[in-house]
Amino acid sequence: MAEWIIDGLSTPAPEVPFQLGTIVHSEQIEPAEVGVSATLAPASIVQVEVADPYIDLWPNEHVLRGKALEESAAEIAETRRLAGFWDRAPGGAYIDNDVNTPLTKADDHWGDPVASQAFFNNLGSPAAEAWKRLIPSAQALLYLLDPLRFPSLTEDECSYEIDARTRLMWSVVSDAIGIRSRSTVMASLCTNSLSNSSGGVKWLSVACGTVLPAMQALVAAGLPADLMLIDWDEKSLAMAEELATELGVQGTTTTQRINIFDHAAMAELSATLLSQSRSPALIEMMGIFEYTGENLGVDPSTFLASAWDLLQPGGTLILGQMRSDRPLADFAMGVIQWPYIHMRSINEILQIIANAGIDTSTCRIYLPSDGIYAIVAIDKP
Ligand SMILES: C[S@@+](CC[C@H](N)C(=O)[O-])C[C@H]1O[C@@H](n2cnc3c(N)ncnc32)[C@H](O)[C@@H]1O
Repeated sequence: MAEWIIDGLSTPAPEVPFQLGTIVHSEQIEPAEVGVSATLAPASIVQVEVADPYIDLWPNEHVLRGKALEESAAEIAETRRLAGFWDRAPGGAYIDNDVNTPLTKADDHWGDPVASQAFFNNLGSPAAEAWKRLIPSAQALLYLLDPLRFPSLTEDECSYEIDARTRLMWSVVSDAIGIRSRSTVMASLCTNSLSNSSGGVKWLSVACGTVLPAMQALVAAGLPADLMLIDWDEKSLAMAEELATELGVQGTTTTQRINIFDHAAMAELSATLLSQSRSPALIEMMGIFEYTGENLGVDPSTFLASAWDLLQPGGTLILGQMRSDRPLADFAMGVIQWPYIHMRSINEILQIIANAGIDTSTCRIYLPSDGIYAIVAIDKP
């Protein structure tokens, strides 16, 4: 494995907190270029280049060094997976059934403990180890969305100062870049929807997690919205107000704890919102489609249909999905030991959308050039 030797590594000065990237180039491509069959063709497929503010802050040699570490750890995990030492084993979608018990996972139940230990030992950071214990909670994503934001990470009574090596890794690994680029694209799509309205748009964030991507999008739009956040993780929902104040979000924010995979609960929410004339014109669901699929006991089309039913006619639903042709998949599932992620091809995503009864010609697909996620915007007639 690549050795961690970086002289004079220091943390760049943080600028504005929780910055989004910038879309610097976009180009339409043909469906066949990403294996999409003619019968499922969407309205458009656009390749998007996103400039990431958290990479350019580091000297290039440090970025390359961090990338080399990621690649060599992923290679160990891949070699060991192909040799049968571990598997990308599916299991239940993670869900916190008991509000008093935090979301946890048995460390060695997922991924490759050997590759993981090699990587984290090499990093030699108690803060990085404590961060790993946050997985799979959405809290872990906060540190990837802004690797410079927090001075320390607190776990129970212990506080771990976050070192420069850990911040560099959070800045340069592919999954962190993908999580930031999907937020940038999502924010840009939401901004377009908001600016086409006179403000006050009813917006539903499904599996909102830390709520940060939705809040970033709202701040970027600079317009007020009536934001409703649904998730099962109470801790994440509790952060909403805190973040709304810190980021200066305009409009109103409400939260509701709901099992989004429960079709009846979603139908009830839909009926309630309809009766109150509060059906959303914008629904955003990042980072949740990966937790659907037959191996996880959640039918993705049924789940999508339940969200689609909530949407106002003329509204837009935006979803994210990790791509099966992404680079370094064994880093996320093997080295970081993130629980099972159901990756899909663009064609598979479109098939799920078609199976939900939605015409795929109403879809616009955006593919950030880092290759990790696809973001799909579906316009409801
Ligand atoms: C990977 S996070 C994504 C969070 C956020 N949308 C983002 O992009 O940063 C997935 C979220 O889904 C939530 N979740 C998972 N299963 C759920 C369920 N059955 N019902 C409600 N929320 C669920 C988790 O609590 C977590 O906050």
